[in-house]
Amino acid sequence: MTPMALPDVRIETVRGALAPGTVADVRSIAAAAATVDGVAPLSEQPLLRLDDATDAEVVHLIARDDDGVVGYAQLDLGAPDDVSSELVVAPSARRRGIGTALLARLGASVEPPRHLAVWAHGDLPAARALAAQADLPVVRELWQMRLDLTGRPTGEAARAAPALPAGVQVRAFVPARDEEPWLRLNARAFAHHPEQGRMTRADLDAREHESWFDPAGLLLAERDGRLLAAVWTKVHASDGAKQAVGELYVVGGGPPPPARARGPP
Ligand SMILES: CC(C)(COP(=O)(O)OP(=O)(O)OC[C@H]1O[C@@H](n2cnc3c(N)ncnc32)[C@H](O)[C@@H]1OP(=O)(O)O)[C@@H](O)C(=O)NCCC(=O)NCCS
Repeated sequence: MTPMALPDVRIETVRGALAPGTVADVRSIAAAAATVDGVAPLSEQPLLRLDDATDAEVVHLIARDDDGVVGYAQLDLGAPDDVSSELVVAPSARRRGIGTALLARLGASVEPPRHLAVWAHGDLPAARALAAQADLPVVRELWQMRLDLTGRPTGEAARAAPALPAGVQVRAFVPARDEEPWLRLNARAFAHHPEQGRMTRADLDAREHESWFDPAGLLLAERDGRLLAAVWTKVHASDGAKQAVGELYVVGGGPPPPARARGPP
């Protein structure tokens, strides 16, 4: 697809952290899109990367007209295979060709033989139509499954001790102590996962600084002090209109590598 020019819109390419005002503008169009579309257009990782100066592999495309930021796309050139990206156009600026222009610019930023992969949250008709127009087929789908917990036991009854294998103990994550073992476990458990398996210490630190982070919700299963598995929960607080939702954020497990045999001294 050839990048097209729009007379009243400029697309700027930025590497590294965006200026604070631009971060606010991008968050604002993402929030407006979430309200109109009923689903957030950008996932957590791209949002955390808006002002992350440490990740040189991230490219931001900012579309502006005379009124300000009207579209945004982010490209992750650090992905091992397909180059992953996310894209949003402000609801007030749609159907002017901005999505097409951003998508074309994304495509032009990817060197063959790598492919461009664009996440589309919520499977919306506009995203389907834009993708069809650009000959982008659906190659991977991510499902979210929900369970209504109304009427289920809460409190102590819900926390009844689960049966654990002999010698396994469960405890909460301790910040500034458990990061490296958790990152090693995560890398092992998600070795074949294009996004989750690449989580770095900086990514983990950024999440620990988010308002939702609660170490009591990140549980570690250990035997003899060695980490075997972890479950990380995230609570999306009620905003008045929507009920609070608890998310099973990351669940990973797998045996640690065998301890090295020691030879005689
Ligand atoms: C998808 C999205 C980026 C499109 O942005 P946009 O600037 O409105 O797109 P364009 O103006 O370039 O539209 C290009 C074509 O896509 C199709 N299209 C766009 N919106 C559509 C809609 N709501 N319904 C049906 N077709 C639509 C049309 O064929 C359109 O061409 P036309 O206007 O000449 O008929 C925008 O709706 C958006 O931000 N959605 C939420 C985030 C998202 O889904 N991102 C994933 C993108 S793959």
